[in-house]
Amino acid sequence: MTASTKDIEKAAGVLRAGGLVALPTETVYGLGANAEDPAAVARIFQVKGRPPSHPLIVHIGGAEYLGDWVEDVPPTARLLAERFWPGPLTLVLRRGRRVPLEATGGLETVAVRVPDHPAALALLSAFGGGVTAPSANRFGSVSPTTAGHVRAELGEAVDFVLDGGPCEVGVESTIVDVTGEVPSILRPGGVTREDLEAVLGFPLAVPSSSLVRVPGQHPSHYAPRARVVLVEPGKIVTEAALAQELGHRVGVFLPPSLTGTQVKAHAVVAVPSSTAAYARGLFGFLRELDRQGCDLIVASLPVEEGLGLAIANRLRRAAGPRPSTAPGLQER
Ligand code: TXA
Ligand code: MG
Repeated sequence: MTASTKDIEKAAGVLRAGGLVALPTETVYGLGANAEDPAAVARIFQVKGRPPSHPLIVHIGGAEYLGDWVEDVPPTARLLAERFWPGPLTLVLRRGRRVPLEATGGLETVAVRVPDHPAALALLSAFGGGVTAPSANRFGSVSPTTAGHVRAELGEAVDFVLDGGPCEVGVESTIVDVTGEVPSILRPGGVTREDLEAVLGFPLAVPSSSLVRVPGQHPSHYAPRARVVLVEPGKIVTEAALAQELGHRVGVFLPPSLTGTQVKAHAVVAVPSSTAAYARGLFGFLRELDRQGCDLIVASLPVEEGLGLAIANRLRRAAGPRPSTAPGLQER
């Protein structure tokens, strides 16, 4: 599905007027504002309920514009941009003067990417500037992968929702810090570590926990309403049945190896065997189990290779400890 020219023009007008546009990307929907308008950027934080110290990603229309937004472009950044843009890769570089500190949470670095979605690229081209956009969900909750998710979660708080259909990749971009001597992955995402390593020619460290300010790395991120419990694949059926008997409304992520197995649960999601399909569906599955009234989701981690690394990262965050939540359920 592609957005109409009329919709693109309308969205560009909203951005010019300092408004907020929810825009489709190949990863997840973003909540966009003119990157150079500090008041519009401030509204993003307000609508999301996100602390102002948490930096945003600036979306630009092509790798050729990178130099306009950052202080300098080291050869590694150039190489990765040329190879992976447009695409689900975000590069962290030294902040250029065009980027207000409001967009970077006060940091002297800035995250930049070129989204691989026709409607996003058409909007960036019509608007002519950079669009700063976090995922279009409330702080800490599950990222939206359809326009309907955005409307359900943010409603009237967004001035315009540009509908570009469901997101193809389904998990957020991979964030790579290229400010240091050795590039490092800050968040696993749509571009796999293996693909990055093949281009760079050397191994990259698996994301370390809390060295940098990446709110996506806080334990309680990407969380549905239901509590998420991770167990070994071999224990999914027994754990689900036990919790269901204890009175929970259990949702199950049934791994492909258990297809066809009878499960005692309130709702069951059959996890696709391809990791690309799993990534595409992941956030929608979590939302769906919430919608069906589950209070507990039992899942297991995929093998952490390829897109499995990003999926496992999001599931761990969804299962992580939640602030101000007692061990009980649904108190968030
Ligand atoms: O796929 C995506 O990346 C989506 C789409 C909309 O582009 N966006 C997204 O934005 O996931 P958000 O705000 O939900 O996550 C952006 C992440 C945050 O974890 C933030 O901390 C990190 O990028 N980030 C932004 N600027 C940074 C910087 N200068 N240094 C380190 N991390 C940064
Ligand atoms: Mg987010």
